[in-house]
Amino acid sequence: EPTTSLKEASTTFFVGMAVKAEQLTNGSKYDEIIKNEFSSISAEYEMKMNIIEPTKGNYNWSKADAIVDYAIANGINVHGHALVWHESAPDWLANYTGTDAEFEQEVKNYITAVLTRYKGKVASWDVVNEAINDSNGALRNSIYRQKMGDNFVAKCFQFAREADPDVLLFYNDYAVTTNKTKQTAIFNLIDDLQANNTPIDGVGFQMHIKYNSPSVDEIKTAVDKAVERDLKLHFSELDVRVNPNKDITTFTTERAIAQKNKVKEVVSVYNAIPLENKYAITVWGMKDDDSWIINQYNNTNEWPLLYDSNFEIKKAHTGFLQGL
Ligand code: XIL
Repeated sequence: EPTTSLKEASTTFFVGMAVKAEQLTNGSKYDEIIKNEFSSISAEYEMKMNIIEPTKGNYNWSKADAIVDYAIANGINVHGHALVWHESAPDWLANYTGTDAEFEQEVKNYITAVLTRYKGKVASWDVVNEAINDSNGALRNSIYRQKMGDNFVAKCFQFAREADPDVLLFYNDYAVTTNKTKQTAIFNLIDDLQANNTPIDGVGFQMHIKYNSPSVDEIKTAVDKAVERDLKLHFSELDVRVNPNKDITTFTTERAIAQKNKVKEVVSVYNAIPLENKYAITVWGMKDDDSWIINQYNNTNEWPLLYDSNFEIKKAHTGFLQGL
């Protein structure tokens, strides 16, 4: 009888899930499924800077600690997400009034505080998230770039490495497989970091994808670029939209099968990479009705995840197992 547990079936990499602290109550349905299925967790939002340092100098660790403590108590890996992301900069930092040098010191203080607190407890971090823009592959003109310069990414990785010599450091972004201009820019950025001996261990492809895109060839092309650079590869935020054009009002069997096949393709490409490049595939939530996609695209007719709203496994879950 083959196992249906994602983590038991995935013997060479972690299977992660984005969680919220409130889901981790002992005895909850989430808790039961996480313990059975997942070998890694990330905070969906509670380890971002707007939550941890909402006002200057005032740290609120309660939710982040709850997630890390749960993982340790249950032998689950933690992938930290995310230290520097323009979308989750707290207002005080996003509208910074001090000098550029003071801004940089604030970022360094933050990275140092987080990595020091979770040293030995959080195995890896997305150090910088989504630094490249979608239109022309240039650096996004975020507050970080404006205040710290074009080498803000390198600086953040250095700050992280100084705070923790052992933690794995990732660059994370979306549309890596589908947007070729952006893909080139991301790997150019990584080449620059590596050429300057900046400590980067891995790259995360968010994998917010669609039932009919990317193709296997597109996934492989992007994956090969990570492998060639000796990076650990994380499929970091997997979800598969089945209704991007809003042409269905119920989750049809046809779309459920297409979603299953896409998940199978994603997992099988990942499973075929060399062992030393493997890290984790993380799904961005458990149940369809929890998914951020519903708000992001203002579409309640979406079913992007591996479990339905009744905590039942979907065909997509079977697709994950079949990709192994
Ligand atoms: C999203 C979360 O799912 C939401 O709950 C939160 O409000 C905003 O962020 N790329 C990322 C993630 O790197 O952090 C985002 O998560 C989804 C897009």
